[in-house]
Amino acid sequence: MNNSSPVVEGLLMIHRIISKGLNNSIWKCDAYMANHGIPRDEKEGFVMYVTTLKWVTHSHHTTEDELGFPYFMDHIDAPYDRLKQDHLTMAQVLEKLDKNLTDIASGSLVALRDTLGEFRDLWGPHIKIEEENFSFDRINRIFDQKEQKKLAKMFSEHSSKNSGPGPLALPFMLNNLEKADREAFMTEIPWVVTKILMPVVWKKKWEPMEPFFL
Ligand SMILES: [Fe+2]
Ligand SMILES: [Fe+2]
Repeated sequence: MNNSSPVVEGLLMIHRIISKGLNNSIWKCDAYMANHGIPRDEKEGFVMYVTTLKWVTHSHHTTEDELGFPYFMDHIDAPYDRLKQDHLTMAQVLEKLDKNLTDIASGSLVALRDTLGEFRDLWGPHIKIEEENFSFDRINRIFDQKEQKKLAKMFSEHSSKNSGPGPLALPFMLNNLEKADREAFMTEIPWVVTKILMPVVWKKKWEPMEPFFL
């Protein structure tokens, strides 16, 4: 069976981005708690990083709910109701994250850390179900390469509409990937974005997140 699949590769890549963003947020939160709080010069970047994680997750779930699942449903047997319910549960957790981020102004990180933990507990089993059900073998058995390329493009265009401001979401996504993944992702983005907008025009906007690209 062919082991390349634009649809599955796209799914695994966005899962890796969100997993990395979530792990980095938890790791940083723990470090701040052990060191009596967030240094003043990291606060803006930390809030921006966690908020962008929230937007990127929201947009990935919206694309699955509105495009991916309805498209797969006719061809692949999977626990769609469970997956959709997980998205609803995680949406509540993401809303709570927003509130927790406003509370860190008063110096408390405990609630934020709890919510990030809750998010990770839901996220791990959720992506495991998706990756097992939407595997290379299953997807390649149903959709040919041409159709998958079309689908992958449709999914990424749909996602970019809901992932918050582009000047934050794109640097967040690219910098939470390992080198090989990042290079593959960059080939999908117009050069003007990767060579001019991101490194020059948008730089001031996303720069506060730089310490969190670990
Ligand atoms: Fe999902
Ligand atoms: Fe997913």
